[in-house]
Amino acid sequence: MVGYAFMGAAHSQAWRTVNRVFDLPLTATMVAVAGRQADQVGAAARRLGWAEAVTDWRELVARPDIDLIDICTPGDSHAEIAIAALEAGKHVLCEKPLANSVVEAEAMVAAAERARASGVRAMCGYNYRRVPAVALLRQFVADGRLGDIRHVRAVYLQDWITDPEFPLVWRLRREVAGSGALGDIGAHIVDLTQYVTGQRIAGVSALTETFVRHRPLPTQSSGLAAESVGGNGQQTGPVTVDDAALFVARLSGGAVATYEATRFATGRKNGLRVELNGSLGSAVFDLERLNELEFYDATAPADQQGFTRILVTEPGHPYLSAWWPPGHLLGYEHSFTHQARDLIEAVATGTDPRPSFDDALGVQRVLDAVEYSAANSAQWTPTTATPVGV
Ligand SMILES: NC(=O)c1ccc[n+]([C@@H]2O[C@H](COP(=O)([O-])OP(=O)(O)OC[C@H]3O[C@@H](n4cnc5c(N)ncnc54)[C@H](O)[C@@H]3O)[C@@H](O)[C@H]2O)c1
Repeated sequence: MVGYAFMGAAHSQAWRTVNRVFDLPLTATMVAVAGRQADQVGAAARRLGWAEAVTDWRELVARPDIDLIDICTPGDSHAEIAIAALEAGKHVLCEKPLANSVVEAEAMVAAAERARASGVRAMCGYNYRRVPAVALLRQFVADGRLGDIRHVRAVYLQDWITDPEFPLVWRLRREVAGSGALGDIGAHIVDLTQYVTGQRIAGVSALTETFVRHRPLPTQSSGLAAESVGGNGQQTGPVTVDDAALFVARLSGGAVATYEATRFATGRKNGLRVELNGSLGSAVFDLERLNELEFYDATAPADQQGFTRILVTEPGHPYLSAWWPPGHLLGYEHSFTHQARDLIEAVATGTDPRPSFDDALGVQRVLDAVEYSAANSAQWTPTTATPVGV
């Protein structure tokens, strides 16, 4: 694994747990974690359960006893690490968004295609696909329970940077993160809605906003070029990404959709919510109530209609048979365990895991189209025809 902070911890928990919960044909062994500072990566290895710590990810790629590289770093290093790993014949799990640009993502897809010829697998970490209620929602749509999908309403709302004194962390710097709320959380609702509906976003009209344009530098050196000193002597630097991104979209199957991603939704902590309205019913998923799926069956007798709260903890529900008795709930971390499960299964059976790098490139094209549209007065922008390098 490369990177050992937020996602590194979540992925480590998954690798530690996956073979103890699921009966799988292969066993994950946590060989080594890579970071940049020896003392910190050493401590992380001990805490997270990795046998060894190294200070250069290239060491992992070169080792014959490592079969899979799990990339948990910011987007600016995804392409380089993933391509090197694939060329060395390692399977790759890469955190989302796949890359910081369409050009990088295309190079990653090409590397994955070349490696695939020798049985090497590549997967992108859109983990919310693996929340059981989300997988159930996809089944409902595929089984026609909602009929023709007409509306998709998706929001991903957080509030952790509403304070203008919050420092200029890497997520607020375009050269590291690629984009702001758009790629950080908007990417999740793009992938999730395409996944549950089975429809692709065909075009968008978008606007973005950056509410706080300068922020104090983090206490450790940021290496920023454009640093300045504010009136109170505090060093500040420019925010170079969006704080919020909103767009309307058309989906390939005829649905219309709205999306909102922001880290300025005061009071909303991790508010991912998706609502689908179809000709035969509606369904709602809310990440802050992730064991539940709300379903409205418009084919039921009129005097019995109403939203039903399905508790998605039955053994027949996706992923649940390996866990606890009905009603004994799962949480955020389990989506990562399910992700590890599905990847191990794919590697063992020689099948392609999803979301593939190609699926994730599709998300990247949507992000690109949103940025292009927002920069051009919300101009309608097809996702396949976005000029490269926006
Ligand atoms: N799937 C999800 O729900 C989810 C949630 C959060 C973040 N992410 C994604 O995961 C990735 C990492 O985000 P995070 O929240 O874990 O960030 P983080 O800041 O918590 O951790 C990043 C880690 O990468 C390390 N790192 C950075 N550059 C490196 C390099 N060149 N070589 C080696 N190590 C390097 C840092 O030292 C740190 O350990 C991003 O792509 C982000 O978008 C996904």
